Amino acid sequence: MKYHAEIASLLQTSCIMSIKHLLLSPPIGTNITVKGWVRTFRSNRFIAINDGSTLANLQCVVNFEKEDENELKRITTGSCLSITGQLVESQGKGQTVEIIVDSFEVLGDAPVDDYPLQPKKHSLEFLREIAHLRPRTNTFSAVFRVRHALSFAIHNYFNKEGFVNWHSPIITGSDAEGAGEMFRVSTLPASGGDPAEDFFGKETHLTVSGQLEGELGALALGKIYTFGPTFRAENSNTTRHLAEFWMVEPEMAFHDLNMNMDLAEDFLKYCLRYILDNCREDLAFLDSRFAEEQKGKPQNERAEQGLIEKLEFVANNDFVRLSYTEAIEILKNSKPNKKRKFKYRIEEWGADLQSEHERFLVEKHFKAPVVLYDYPASIKAFYMRLNEDGKTVRAMDILFPGIGEIVGGSQREERYDILKEKVAAVGIPEEELWWYLETRKFGTCVHSGFGLGFERLVQFSTGMGNIRDVIPFPRTPGSANF
Ligand code: 4AD
Ligand code: MG
Repeated sequence: MKYHAEIASLLQTSCIMSIKHLLLSPPIGTNITVKGWVRTFRSNRFIAINDGSTLANLQCVVNFEKEDENELKRITTGSCLSITGQLVESQGKGQTVEIIVDSFEVLGDAPVDDYPLQPKKHSLEFLREIAHLRPRTNTFSAVFRVRHALSFAIHNYFNKEGFVNWHSPIITGSDAEGAGEMFRVSTLPASGGDPAEDFFGKETHLTVSGQLEGELGALALGKIYTFGPTFRAENSNTTRHLAEFWMVEPEMAFHDLNMNMDLAEDFLKYCLRYILDNCREDLAFLDSRFAEEQKGKPQNERAEQGLIEKLEFVANNDFVRLSYTEAIEILKNSKPNKKRKFKYRIEEWGADLQSEHERFLVEKHFKAPVVLYDYPASIKAFYMRLNEDGKTVRAMDILFPGIGEIVGGSQREERYDILKEKVAAVGIPEEELWWYLETRKFGTCVHSGFGLGFERLVQFSTGMGNIRDVIPFPRTPGSANF
């Protein structure tokens, strides 16, 4: 702060300051310039300007008697201004400091009749239709600042733990994962053609997960993590699915499933602690938004905890760990199962868990995050480590309140012969995965990893009900605007 003020006085001019910095330690008495977008203009005198650096607007007081009337008319909600003046302690209520405007310049007009974002409550659905402008609202700017902070926290965490950031490819030549339907990448004409004539000389797709290539990294560098976009062409129109989403995938040599679960829990808590410590203002705003939204819901659908309360709870308490088999027993004997309230009734061991079951365990039964492990091999991917019982695999899913599955991971099958058999059993041609199999042939070892759906973490952290509202430009079935 001092630095800015000194430079400004040295240069005998004003400096541009972000509102965030300016409010942190206000250089009272100095001449400063702020640039941003007008939120409101009241009484031809009070401009509330926001530059996106923080939730808070800065009040700028303009003396309308000395300004050109036509220029004043250009100060409208949404217009972009550069304002210069002295920062003073505010006389009015609602702010500690304000700028007494010396001069202002309209950098960009926003005609009142056209500008769709007026200072009133807009629905999230409407704002989704104007995704190019919605970051200018309090809600979305707060969400995207928290998203940034989480992304930063993730890199911080893995860096401090000695992981190497590993970039798995986006374009892949195999459907090794089998995690979902894939998008084809091709330069062939729309009418199709011979894959051998295609750009890469074979069929290629957008990746559904960076895991398999991540394993190659871990079996050389020890601990790696990916953090990149992944793509799934599933036709699931839910509040938890995107066709393009960001995934964080750590992969560690010499880690068994227990170490994997420990790491995942520690990692998630670190991220939540980070935003609790660094995004107080945005979280406080999102907390009250969340509380307001809950009021509009029927009693039995309301969240039991406030947003910040929930984040503190998850950051400070142990996750519940139980095996799939134990979970099935609980679910089989649960009230909604007996009363046929579940859409998918749990009849027997082996059933795939639906989100209604996951949410029952987390929100009703345990009222805490739950880590489920040792799933039936039949409902999990081929690369997961087979247990001695021959029917379960060393898989784990982490289930969060209000979200359901936020993390999916496993210990990997490191035994060459068994992996080869499993590859054959799911019908993947060995030629497609020869490179993956070779890591088991040459210097194999116990290793594990998991994938965190980044948007689901942002959803959980911000209390936003729909995943489309935590990524700037969501891609979902039938929708790829902007
Ligand atoms: O459970 P998934 O499919 O696991 C994998 O892809 C493994 N290869 C991860 C690994 O072990 N390295 O996906 C991981 C997570 C899910 O738990 C969920 O949070 C998120 O990714 N996810 C999605 N998020 C948004 N939209 C979708 N369509 C998602 N599908 C999965
Ligand atoms: Mg999963």
